[in-house]
Amino acid sequence: MIMILIRIKAAWTYSHLQPLFIKGFFHKYMKSNIFFSMATLLLATVTTTASHAQTPTLNLYSSRHYQTDDALYSGFTKATGIALRRIEAAEDPLIERIRNEGAASPADLLVTVDAGRLWRAEQMGLFQPVTSKLLESRLPAHMRAPGNLWFGFSTRARVIVYNKNMVNATAVQNYEDLADPKLKGKVCIRSGGHVYNLSLMSALIEHWGEARAQAWAQGVVANFARSPRGGDTDQILAAASGECAVALANTYYYVRLLSSSKPEERKRIESLALVFPNQKSFGTHLNVSGAGVVRTAPNKDAAIRFLEYLASDAAQSYFASGNNEWPVVAGAPLNNQGLESLGQFKADTLNVGVLGKHQALAQKIFDRVGWR
Ligand SMILES: [Fe+2]
Repeated sequence: MIMILIRIKAAWTYSHLQPLFIKGFFHKYMKSNIFFSMATLLLATVTTTASHAQTPTLNLYSSRHYQTDDALYSGFTKATGIALRRIEAAEDPLIERIRNEGAASPADLLVTVDAGRLWRAEQMGLFQPVTSKLLESRLPAHMRAPGNLWFGFSTRARVIVYNKNMVNATAVQNYEDLADPKLKGKVCIRSGGHVYNLSLMSALIEHWGEARAQAWAQGVVANFARSPRGGDTDQILAAASGECAVALANTYYYVRLLSSSKPEERKRIESLALVFPNQKSFGTHLNVSGAGVVRTAPNKDAAIRFLEYLASDAAQSYFASGNNEWPVVAGAPLNNQGLESLGQFKADTLNVGVLGKHQALAQKIFDRVGWR
């Protein structure tokens, strides 16, 4: 704007049009420069005001695709006036995409699941530290990765699901039981390469050390009912049908079937019950849905505001329930009957960063014992 005004003034000063106005009102003021000074000031003010009124659009790279998330995102825009653009893809391709986009990435935030993946993104240098008193006071310490590079906003537990007609509850109270010869040929678990098992294994390495963790993995492999295939839901259904007696799965898969609107789906898992393992020791292994601010975020301040919004009571409830997960903020409402029906339990409070730290060793151990 200012440049345009300067050009008009230059054109005015030297142009042949000047004589036409020489006796006019405009000439008097333009020639004295006062008019231009005032106009410049006025337009500069208008321009500045307009740019302040322009709020950023946050680019949110997310692997979440739940219907309840629509209410979550519109709540943020309503509260802050900041629009959100969602780029959704599966977890690993999303992380790769940010890495490939490099410094030119429009990504402000990465929202994804499992501490193992968030840690991987951290290792690639995709996050920047976040300073926020609000996040520090609202989120429990173990939900904040070292250096405040990323945060867990909701939790899922890795639990034992068993067929009540085939085993007794007392036989499946701990992760250790999965490796006990009494369950030979009865255990269904997905592949060792999957991040959910790598994160569990990371926790066990932290608690037990490498040798004991490896002995456990060896014992589990010896108890396989079949070689690992499919996802957690497949393991649950295999236990329900009696192909195996015991399965390991994340809670939200079980609750999804438990709360299904289709009676036949609910009926399919009638033979099953769920155990929160290790209640008398370190507690049940927890993982997270989490997020961090991208290192090259074009809108860093707004991105932090979004993370702070996720820690609000209302957002916690939406964010967690979207995938049948628990909020991490103490006292945040849990509006999820299926989840509530599972009851209270003792959760492992290892820091989410630890779950990433041992991923490479966890994979090595799975390879050594043939957990494919
Ligand atoms: Fe999952």
